[in-house]
Amino acid sequence: MKGDKWILYAKFAGEPSPGNFKLLEEDVDENLEDGEVICQAVYLSVDPYMRLYNVEVGNVFSGEQVAKVILSKNPDFKVGCLVQGYLGWRNVTKVTDPSIIKLIPQLGDLSPSLALGTLGMPGFTAYVGVLNVLKVKAGETFVVTSAGGAVGTVAGQIAKLKGCKVIGFAGSKEKCDLIKEYGFDYAFNYKEVTLEQALSEAAPEGVDCYFDNVGGEFTNNILSFMNTNGRIAVCGTMSTYTMDENQPSGLLPYRTILLKALMVQGFHVFSFNAEWPACLNEMIQWVKEGKIKYQETITDGFGNMVDAFIGLFKGTNIGKAIVKC
Ligand SMILES: NC(=O)c1ccc[n+]([C@@H]2O[C@H](COP(=O)([O-])OP(=O)(O)OC[C@H]3O[C@@H](n4cnc5c(N)ncnc54)[C@H](OP(=O)(O)O)[C@@H]3O)[C@@H](O)[C@H]2O)c1
Repeated sequence: MKGDKWILYAKFAGEPSPGNFKLLEEDVDENLEDGEVICQAVYLSVDPYMRLYNVEVGNVFSGEQVAKVILSKNPDFKVGCLVQGYLGWRNVTKVTDPSIIKLIPQLGDLSPSLALGTLGMPGFTAYVGVLNVLKVKAGETFVVTSAGGAVGTVAGQIAKLKGCKVIGFAGSKEKCDLIKEYGFDYAFNYKEVTLEQALSEAAPEGVDCYFDNVGGEFTNNILSFMNTNGRIAVCGTMSTYTMDENQPSGLLPYRTILLKALMVQGFHVFSFNAEWPACLNEMIQWVKEGKIKYQETITDGFGNMVDAFIGLFKGTNIGKAIVKC
């Protein structure tokens, strides 16, 4: 049978653009050995990290997807079941090593696409960032950036569930309205207000926990609003992802870190894999009870993968960016 794949065609320089990618057709061999399956993509994830860590030019762009098994010689993955795995930007994949896929969690009436967002890697990132890295406590003041995105919407809601005062910064009115609806105490469009204006209104007492998704100038500036012994979880640095890898991505004001005795911790979600089953159970429960709300920006068609990806760097997604095949 035939399938399509997106390859990295030219190395990134600055923001991703259509010229970085090429769509190719490929033959998918239908003759299966024991254990092998063929999957058809249903939902594909586009994520900011893909700009930073990805394949060499000429290879299939990597990424996670939810796919339906359409041919199988594996009793664990019967025809018709939904699996997830890092199968790359392909719409038909022959999986020769079944250890790279797993059945999607039992989500009941919820959309399987959530396994790529709130109930997948981004939601898990928010969970461990808030609970394991920042270890938030009730009554603390919590700030999150990219607050209208896949990770930020969840991080703010978890901090709120734990009794924090939650302040979100996002790049549009629509995103700010959404997170206010989700229960954030304050939402500011960072393109329209200064940190000083925002925090003098929302956090005159200072900031205890900062969930950093953007890095750069915003992060440098927030340090002077942090309380002594404040904690910063460096989750992402969106503002630097499109810089040349040799370009300095900013200098932290070390004197402020010292004087305020701040804890600044970068983290990778995959270091917390042991926490995943407990997180998933709790997150499914919270979603079903309506305590964690979510939104997805769904782009239709495998042919539009690149547009959906580019949109992340322009802020066009609200909540999790997903491509539906
Ligand atoms: N540490 C980990 O293990 C881990 C795991 C997953 C994700 N992450 C990181 O978490 C962050 C959020 O990821 P996500 O999947 O939830 O993405 P997202 O927030 O859904 O989408 C990215 C958002 O970044 C904002 N943005 C784009 N360019 C920007 C710039 N120059 N300055 C400031 N903001 C900019 C845009 O929102 P606005 O409209 O608000 O500008 C855009 O919608 C990313 O940095 C990602 O790499 C880290």
